[in-house]
Formats: sequence, C-alpha cells, structure tokens
Amino acid sequence: MEKKSFYITTPIYYPSDKLHIGHAYCTTIADSVARYRRLAGYDVLFLTGSDEHGQKIQRKATEQGVTPLQYVDKIVAGFQDLWKRLNISNDDFIRTTEERHHKVVQAIFKKIYEQGDIYKSNYEGLYCTPCETFWLERQLVDGKCPDCGRPVEPVQEESYFFRMSKYQERLLTFIDENPDFIQPVSRRNEMINFIKGGLEDLCISRTTFDWGIPVPIDDKHVIYVWFDALTNYITAAGYLSDDAKFAKYWPADVHLVGKEIVRFHSIIWPILLMALGLELPKKVYGHGWLIVEGDKMSKSKGNVVDPVGLIEEFGADTIRYFLLREINLGMDGNFSRDALIQRINSDLANDLGNLLHRTLSMVEKFNGGVLSAPNEADEVDASLIELASKTVAEYEHLMDKMDISPTIKLVWAFISRTNKYIDETAPWALAKDPAKKVRLDTVMYNLVESLRVISILISPFMPNTAPKIWMQLGIEKDFASVQLVDIKTWGQTPVGTKVNKPEQIFPRIEEEKEVAAQDTTKTEKKVDTVKAPIASAEEAGPSEITIDEFAKMDLRVVKVLAAEKVKKADKLLMLTVDLGNEQRTIISGIAKHYEPEVLVGKNVVMVVNLKPAKIRGVVSHGMVLAASVDEALKVVEIDMPVGSKVK
Ligand code: ME8
Repeated sequence: MEKKSFYITTPIYYPSDKLHIGHAYCTTIADSVARYRRLAGYDVLFLTGSDEHGQKIQRKATEQGVTPLQYVDKIVAGFQDLWKRLNISNDDFIRTTEERHHKVVQAIFKKIYEQGDIYKSNYEGLYCTPCETFWLERQLVDGKCPDCGRPVEPVQEESYFFRMSKYQERLLTFIDENPDFIQPVSRRNEMINFIKGGLEDLCISRTTFDWGIPVPIDDKHVIYVWFDALTNYITAAGYLSDDAKFAKYWPADVHLVGKEIVRFHSIIWPILLMALGLELPKKVYGHGWLIVEGDKMSKSKGNVVDPVGLIEEFGADTIRYFLLREINLGMDGNFSRDALIQRINSDLANDLGNLLHRTLSMVEKFNGGVLSAPNEADEVDASLIELASKTVAEYEHLMDKMDISPTIKLVWAFISRTNKYIDETAPWALAKDPAKKVRLDTVMYNLVESLRVISILISPFMPNTAPKIWMQLGIEKDFASVQLVDIKTWGQTPVGTKVNKPEQIFPRIEEEKEVAAQDTTKTEKKVDTVKAPIASAEEAGPSEITIDEFAKMDLRVVKVLAAEKVKKADKLLMLTVDLGNEQRTIISGIAKHYEPEVLVGKNVVMVVNLKPAKIRGVVSHGMVLAASVDEALKVVEIDMPVGSKVK
C-alpha cells in the first residue's frame, strides 16, 4: 500500500543576516512534526530554504561592496550549517536564486498575465524595506510600518498589479468552509477582518532595483519578492517539473510561519493559487514569537541570541527540548538562559537521565546486565503498562494537532510514572531475597521496556538522544527503522537483551552562581545551612509547603560506608554512602561534631534528589539530615534497611 504523504514547510528566511534563535525555533517545530509523521508511517516532504531576492538584500550587498549573489551565498551556507548542527531533517532546501525556481515564477507570472489577472499601472504608495511590504497611508501606525514599527519610504513607479480584489469573496468562502485552514483561531479571526476590510490589488513588480526575477514580458521590471517567495512551496513540490511528485505532495499539509507573515500566507498565497487553478494548502499555522529575557530581540538592543553558540554550549537536543517544551505553539514565549538550565537539570538530567542510569545500573547489578523474561505481573505493573498504552494513543492525537508542548508534558508524565514505579517496587529490596527473583525480573523488564517506549516517543524532539538511549538499552534493532507501531504493543524488548554500561546523557549544568550559592565553605552562614538545614529554616520562619511540595523530596535510608576529613576545611566530611542500588559521595558540614570513623556503618536519612553541588572541588550528591539545637548536632540515625523511603 502506498504511504500517505505529508508536506510541511517553514518560511524561507531572508539571508540579509545570520539566523537567530527565533528562526531556529520555527524550524525545530517543523522538524519535530516532520519526524513525528515519518515515525507514524507517512511519506514526508519537509522543506525549508532561503528567500534571496529583494531590495533589502541588494542594499546589504551594496553596503559590503559585493554582488547580491556573493552576499547571500555566504549567509545561506551559514543557514545550512545551522540546520545540520540542530539536526534538522529537511528533505529539500530551496534557494529562490535557483534556476528551477526562476522557471516556475516566470511561468506563473505569464499564465496569470495571459488570463487577465495581471495588469500594468502606476503605483504610488509606501514601502517597508525590512518587511518588503507595500502600505497605504491609512494603514500606517504613527506613520510607521504597522508590522515592524520602522519607517516606510515613499514609492512611485510603474508596476504590474495582481487582481487580488477579484478573489476576495471566494477566499472568504474558503476560509469559512475550512475552519482549520488558518490556525490558531485568533489569527483566523484577524485575517477574516482584514479581508472584509477590502483587498487592494497587489503591486507585484519593481523597477527601482534589479535584484529579482525579471518579469518575463517586460525586463525593465523584477518580480516583487513576496510573489517570488511564496511560489517556492510549489517549485519544491515539483510544480511544472515533476507531475508525479506534485500530485503526491500538493496541497501542502502545513505552512508553518511566524504570526507576522500569516497574512501573506493566508491571503496573497491562496489567491495566487486560485488564479493558477491549484488546490489551497490545508493549513497555515502562525506560531508566536520568541522573546528574549522578556524583550523582543533586536540588534540595537544587543539581545539577539545566536543558536550556534547555544548548541555548542548545551547541545542541539537540549536546545530543541527547551524550545519545544517551554512554549505553546501559537503563543509568544520567553527564552532565558536560567529557564534553559533549570529544564536541563530537572527534566533531562534528573527525570530522564536518572531513570536511565538507575535502570541500567540495577539490571547490571542484579542480573549481570541481561534482561530475563517478565513473569509475575501485579497491579503496579498493570498500571504502568496501561499508562504506556494511553500515552502512545494520546501522543498521536496531540501530535496530529501539532500540540507539541502538551505532547512533551505527556511523555514526561510517563517518565515520572516510571521513576515512581522504581520507588514502588523497590528492586534493591527484591534483590536481597532469592525467592523474589522472578518478581525482580519482571520489574527490570518493565523498566527497560518503558525506556524503549520513551526513547521512541522523544525521538521527534531529541533525535540525537533517542538512539543513544536505545544503544544503552542494548536493543539490536536499528533505531532508524523504528516506527510508532513498535510501541503500540507492550513487551517488544527481546528477552535476553544485554544492556550496556550507563553513560550520562545529560550532565547537570552547574552555573557558577549556583555552585557559589551552595558552596558551604565560603561563609559561616552558608556552612550553617548545610550543618543544620532544618534549624536554620526554622529561624528564618519557614513558610508553609503543600504535601505535593514535600513529596518532591526523595528521603532515603542510606548506610555510611566511609568517612574522611576534607583537606583544609575543618567543618567538612566527605562521606561515601550506600543507597541500595548505588553508592554516592556527599560532603557534609558535620566535622566539628563527629570523628569520621564514628559515622561508618550508621544508617542515616539522606535527601537523595538534592541538586549536586561542587564543594571544595568535590561534587556532593545529596545531604544527610541532622538535628541541631544550640551547639549540639546529631545526624538522623534510623534503624531501617538501606533504601527505605522516608515519608
Ligand atoms: O519573513 N520568534 O523571512 P524572515 C519566533 N522571507 N520566530 C521568529 C522570530 C522570533 N523572534 N523571528 C523570526 C521572511 N522568526 C520571509 C518569509 S516565506 C515565503 C518568506 C521566524 O527571515 C518566524 O517563523 O524575516 C518568522 O515568520 C520568520 O522567522 C521570518 O523570517
């Protein structure tokens, strides 16, 4: 059976400058949707590219003393490099300076001219060069471009006009009959009002500069850049060059664009297609803008975020995850470094990274790394498996609607559930009792199987990480051939799979200021915080917390295996503790109260999910609880097995 096709596009960006994080945001969204559709079995055409003509580019090139083509060649190479670094899986990259595109633009101009929808007249009006947009006096806001707020220039020239007005009613009917055509709904209403306000015929040629595709019937004119740009979507789909390809992919399923250019895509573009007798795209989706630290990005403010630097510092998947998770499509969203680091540490290092690490370590420790067959299923297993199946179904439903952030939240709810499954089943306790081996096997199998499901679910968003997890799980099937159907039935991980050694996939990010805040040796006050966290909190008058906030704390019984003084820090001890399934090093501010050897062998209570912090050059992975009054301090000892949860 032939696969269903899916055609998705991004705007073709202007190579007037390097791309910033906003462009990367749009392309990452499109990429995750394209990857999801491939996973769901579609034959996908995912297109991006560059919009290389127009007055703005010509001016920039002149400023730099190079030809427009020399100018754009260099910048477009940067676009392609960025997409590679960000792991963008576009099937084609169209440049409007390519011959294949020239041919189509000229052919459609000619066709529309010959059928009488293009006529020559004189244009007198205003032009915004950064937006490459014509305006009428009455449309300006405070005398400036209503889109970007920059000054406009008067233009008076002979031009060709496209009879947009003729198609106004047909377009309104189409929008009315296709409620999903313009999304989100707020943009749809905006567009309907704009059209009802009356469409002017569109000026589609320029004579005052020459960096454009010549009008085929009049070489004094070059074709207006938006007429040229929008056409890229059919050029790349094979219009007039590959009928079979065009029949397969056209009409496009989604044109993903920023909210400021929805108007071009939902008014000019459909009318152009109507004039050509072609079907209209199924959807124009206007995404919101990325705001940086609460402010619109602009060169003059110096807050333009370069995605290349971020990718080098944090890795592509991390940036992708943040952009897709943090912002609801259609809404503006804030980009901040602090929020990025917080997400990395909590969602990636903690939730996902720990789940993988804990699981692999336990399979290694309890079963020599080999997965045995699951047998004894109980209610906890049933609830995990049921959630996996519900998650996969809901995932498809949400991704089909491009509800990306809710999809990611859904997947993370399953990750949390799986982490909780470890707590509920306490494998370290099962491992101690040979009679519980069968139960332990089931738990280990379900954990690896959950991670198999998770790796496939995250693959559209984090295409580097997903196969890395797969490899650590030791599953032999080639990840590239994986499909969504592979997780529709539970239990596809082959019994006998040998897991690999866990490798950290997301190291925690310790910003200098975070480390400084936790470096308990810097001031007396900070040492006190570690020494007696409960007492100092009480002194400050603790605010109330909810039971949910309390539940975030993972308190466990651990055994002190070794203790030694930290050199040149008279208040600190370095402890090695056993959590049951792993050993950790922690730094504790209790040296004034305990000789190290006294602590060895004690079962104490520890906060195990405290953010690691570097103290005197050693990373401390948790905190032992201690009670204090006046000068006295005692660690909280407890007569319970190692690994027990304190709640
Ligand atoms: O408009 N936040 O190109 P362009 C989110 N060539 N997205 C942003 C953004 C931000 N702060 N800034 C830019 C053009 N974008 C035309 C398109 S299509 C036939 C021609 C994204 O280089 C967003 O998708 O100005 C926006 O629509 C696009 O980049 C504009 O890119």
